[in-house]
Parts: sequence; C-alpha cells; structure tokens
Amino acid sequence: MTNHKHQNIKSPLNYIGGKYKLLNQIIPLFPSKINRFVDIFAGGCNVGINVNADKVYFNDNLVFLIEMYQAFRKNTLDDTINHLEEQISKYNLSLTNEEGYKKIRYDYNQQKVSLDLFVLAAYSFNHQIRFNNKHEFNTPFGRNRSSFNLSMKQNLEKFINKLKTIEAEFTSESFEGFKFSSLDNQDFVYFDPPYLITTGTYNDGKRGFKGWSNKEEKRLFEIMDFLDQKKVKFALSNVIEHKGQSNELLKNWIKNNKNLRVNHIDSNYSNSNYQIKEKDSYKTTEVLITNYEVDYKVANQPDLFTNN
Ligand SMILES: C[S@@+](CC[C@H](N)C(=O)[O-])C[C@H]1O[C@@H](n2cnc3c(N)ncnc32)[C@H](O)[C@@H]1O
Repeated sequence: MTNHKHQNIKSPLNYIGGKYKLLNQIIPLFPSKINRFVDIFAGGCNVGINVNADKVYFNDNLVFLIEMYQAFRKNTLDDTINHLEEQISKYNLSLTNEEGYKKIRYDYNQQKVSLDLFVLAAYSFNHQIRFNNKHEFNTPFGRNRSSFNLSMKQNLEKFINKLKTIEAEFTSESFEGFKFSSLDNQDFVYFDPPYLITTGTYNDGKRGFKGWSNKEEKRLFEIMDFLDQKKVKFALSNVIEHKGQSNELLKNWIKNNKNLRVNHIDSNYSNSNYQIKEKDSYKTTEVLITNYEVDYKVANQPDLFTNN
C-alpha cells in the first residue's frame, strides 16, 4: 500500500486475541468523532492506543497488566528501558538461560515489580502472559524463540511514546464494575471480550482470574442493551461461528435487538496463501457488531489506516 496517512502502533505484547492485524478493518467502522473511548477489555491495548478520541479509558481485569501500563506512563521512557535492560543483564537472560528466567519469574511472583512483567513477557513462551490461581505468573520459558529483541524494543518505545501523549486513564475492574452510567452519546465503548466459543489462556477461570462463561456473556449483553437505551454507541468484536461451533446466545441477542448491525471482518486474510486443510475447513465468522449504521463511504478508505 502506498500513500500511508497513518501508521498504526503495534502493542509490544504478543497478546492472545490482539486486534492489531484487524485494525484496518475495525477502526474505520467506529464513529469519526469520539469524546471518551472506553477499551473495556484492553488486553494489549492495540485498539485504544490507535483510536482517535479526546480521552481513552483502558480497562482490563488483569490488574498486573494495568499496573505495568501505569508504570510505562509514569516513568520516563529512558528509565523504563534502563530498568528492563538492567534486569536482563542482572538475571543474565538469553534465548537459552532457563534458570535466569525462572529466577526472575520467582522474584516477580514474590515482589510484583510492575515493569518486570514486561521482562517476563519478553522471554516467555510465545511472549504470553499467564497467571495461575494463586496470581503467580506461570508461562514457561520461550527457549530459542523469545527475547527482548530489536523489534520488540522498537514497538515498546513507540507504544510508550504514544501512551504519554494521549489523555488516558487505566482501571482494572471486571467489566461490569465500570461506570457505564456516566457515558453519553458523544462517547464510545469497544468490547473485545474473551470469545465464548474459542479459547484463550485468560478465559480459564482456574487460572486465577474470573473465567468467561454464559453468565458473563449474558451480563455483557445486558450492559450493551443498557448503553443502547442511553444512546451510547458501542462495537463488539466476536465470532459467531468457529470450527463447527456456533454462539447461539450471541445469535439470539442479535435477533432480538433491531438496532444491531453485523459487520463482517475478514480474519483469515493472513492465511490466504495457505492450502486450507480438511480440519480447518469450518469457517470462522468474525464480526464487529455495532448499534449504529456504519457509513461505508467514509469507512472504506483503504489507505487511511495501514499495518506494516
Ligand atoms: C481478546 S483480549 C483483548 C485484546 C485487545 N483488544 C487487543 O487488541 O490487544 C480480552 C481481554 O479481556 C480481559 N478480561 C477477561 N475477563 C474480563 C473481565 N471479566 N473484565 C475485564 N476484562 C476481562 C482479558 O484479561 C483479556 O486481556
């Protein structure tokens, strides 16, 4: 693509369910003018960090993640990078030193130094962040694969610089604890919850943070109905069908609310060169559900947002 008008920031975390690769499709479907943007399931913050709004609220119930973002904002960029590099050198972290990794993981679980969560994510298996039921970080070592490499460092620097320039607030509530009643029709809520019919490590209730089941899914629909009545616009990312499973709760909710629009998202583009295997032949129907009509004349400007 040429004539880039906008370069998206990529979260420095390789977050499960992260929306970086779908930003070009999702953000153009948002309203063009947003006062307060609420990224209620912020995760890697890929969406909130790139959206154009007067103020962004980042919320995630993973409190240690939110504490790390708050440290990114509070410290100078140099102090953060120095801290990370000092820890890497103190624990002698490398692609092969599993003992060093286990040592800093142990110390993090004792002391919970917020920035050390990033060091762990840099060296963990698939760069994943996962906590057990005692709220201990427990991702195994990413031998020969994970390290604080140059591209991770560059993504981190860009992310922190952007985070420092925007008006932002961080909270670590479970979604239903957010003060939705304070929002009005200039505000916008983006919901990117764990998907009921797919699995992510963060949605296993046994791992210390409340899991995701029909109960949470229904509560979420109630909140979105409430917002709809208050004329607050929102968008929900989800999958309606995935590997032969179908989210019937979601389908019913859509059927019963005439204000909802189902916008299809192409989540398979990155696999488009692959031969589709028999077991993958079930379709995944990724959608962005909105309670407003998308203005496609404005939304379909392919060079407005671009990923590298
Ligand atoms: C699909 S991920 C969000 C990814 C994010 N949009 C991105 O692009 O990086 C879902 C997030 O919801 C969080 N979460 C799970 N249950 C939650 C709850 N009850 N309240 C708030 N956040 C929750 C998880 O910790 C996870 O970070």
